[in-house]
Amino acid sequence: MAEAKLIDGKAFAAGLRTRVAKGVAELATSGGAKPGLATVLVGADPASEVYVRSKGKTASELGMASFDHRLPAETTEAELLALIARLNADRSVNGILVQLPLPKHIDTPKILLAIDPNKDVDGFHPINVGRLGSIAAGAPLDFPVPCTPLGCSMLLADALGSLAGRNAVIVGRSTLVGRPVAQLLLRMDCTVTITHSRTRDLPAVCRSADILVVAIGKPEFVRGDWIKPGAAVIDVGINRIPAEGGKTRLVGDVAFAEARAVAGHLTPVPGGVGPMTVACLMYNTLQEARRASGLPFAAV
Ligand code: GUN
Repeated sequence: MAEAKLIDGKAFAAGLRTRVAKGVAELATSGGAKPGLATVLVGADPASEVYVRSKGKTASELGMASFDHRLPAETTEAELLALIARLNADRSVNGILVQLPLPKHIDTPKILLAIDPNKDVDGFHPINVGRLGSIAAGAPLDFPVPCTPLGCSMLLADALGSLAGRNAVIVGRSTLVGRPVAQLLLRMDCTVTITHSRTRDLPAVCRSADILVVAIGKPEFVRGDWIKPGAAVIDVGINRIPAEGGKTRLVGDVAFAEARAVAGHLTPVPGGVGPMTVACLMYNTLQEARRASGLPFAAV
């Protein structure tokens, strides 16, 4: 059997960013406001700093305003809530992204609940979680949807066309990825199974998948013999592991070389799902700016 076709998330994300930049320019010519994205980082986690910087930089590159809020790790919940209240009221801000994880002394659900659902470009507010959870098959996504899951669904639609009737197995039940991916794939008429740490005979369940989405955060956890020949495999994991010569390297949650020999389509790590997250955040921010200007969501 031929090697899996690699799904080039880096190229797809670049195309999406270009289309979003066009949407930003069109919004300006139709009298709409310049989209604004506010990022909030509490503390100085190095990985989170890298993500937040990349979000702000990309927003600026696409013609959006970017507002970068850095707060010390000791920031109280009340102080963070006060900042969110100001951003909710600020008409130049269309998207609010509070980088997770937050320090332990802050109640994350309480913070997410405080964000205006129409500025919730992460799609983590319970209103938006509920909208996604109750969406009808094929209905338009006219509310913010979590960025990484949205990116996964875009890559699958691009690689496979219609997903109707396919068996989709998701490894991992997180609220950030596994569950919203399941909702998106149900909307696209897949038959969806969500698996987790207590699933019996996980390899056998994975082998039933035409589409396998893996978001579990364990390096090279899914092996080649867990994959149905020809399946589409979406690897959401980004894990740094020790490599030769005292160096480190990035690997996904799927054993790449093994999977490549069996799968029909496969996302690489890096360069697969990763670049889609920020591109989809820009997409969500543009859509919320359109809403704020009285315009409907528009496919880009
Ligand atoms: N931390 C890891 N991924 C994400 C994400 O998609 N959004 C936010 N806000 N924080 C994250």
